[in-house]
Amino acid sequence: MQVKITPMTIDDLDDVLAIEKTSFIFPWSDHSFYGEIKENKNADYVVARLRNNNKIVGYGGLWVFFDEGHITTLAVHPHYRKAGAGSSLLDHLLKKARSRGARKVFLEVRDSNKVARGLYEKFKFRVIGRRKNYYLLEDAVVMLLKFPKSVSQPS
Ligand SMILES: CC(C)(COP(=O)(O)OP(=O)(O)OC[C@H]1O[C@@H](n2cnc3c(N)ncnc32)[C@H](O)[C@@H]1OP(=O)(O)O)[C@@H](O)C(=O)NCCC(=O)NCCS
Repeated sequence: MQVKITPMTIDDLDDVLAIEKTSFIFPWSDHSFYGEIKENKNADYVVARLRNNNKIVGYGGLWVFFDEGHITTLAVHPHYRKAGAGSSLLDHLLKKARSRGARKVFLEVRDSNKVARGLYEKFKFRVIGRRKNYYLLEDAVVMLLKFPKSVSQPS
């Protein structure tokens, strides 16, 4: 499946919220996404669109504060999963984090979410801890990806 990644806009929110509701037990509101897109200068939110017809099939979000990035959300429409869109979104967000100066990226994921954990492990995230009852009755696993040092990132 061929997707292109574009910045999330207010016009995308109906499609994003439809995916959000099918993907999470406690979905974010339109207000939450609106604030992230319009008001949070530390945030980057993107959507994945099918190349042939521009349909939105997934989205993801990132915060970067100083040298730390944080993946805030990532979801793909159930009909379009297992076809690479999640990987494309994550790859884009990690490149964006790096370009904004992040040296490492954190995220939280449900302990039981083997699919998402598999995706993050594929991108070399490693479990570094857990937050008890972060999702009300379920622990979050905290994962970290450290970018290798490069010439443009002196120690
Ligand atoms: C997690 C999610 C975003 C993955 O999106 P996706 O488009 O299906 O991901 P990809 O097709 O790029 O798959 C990437 C990797 O994820 C893992 N994965 C995806 N689907 C899987 C499945 N059904 N079983 C096991 N691993 C799976 C694999 O490691 C896969 O790599 P591979 O294709 O090389 O085997 C998607 O399943 C989703 O939206 N889930 C609900 C929301 C969610 O849990 N978001 C994460 C919150 S932290």
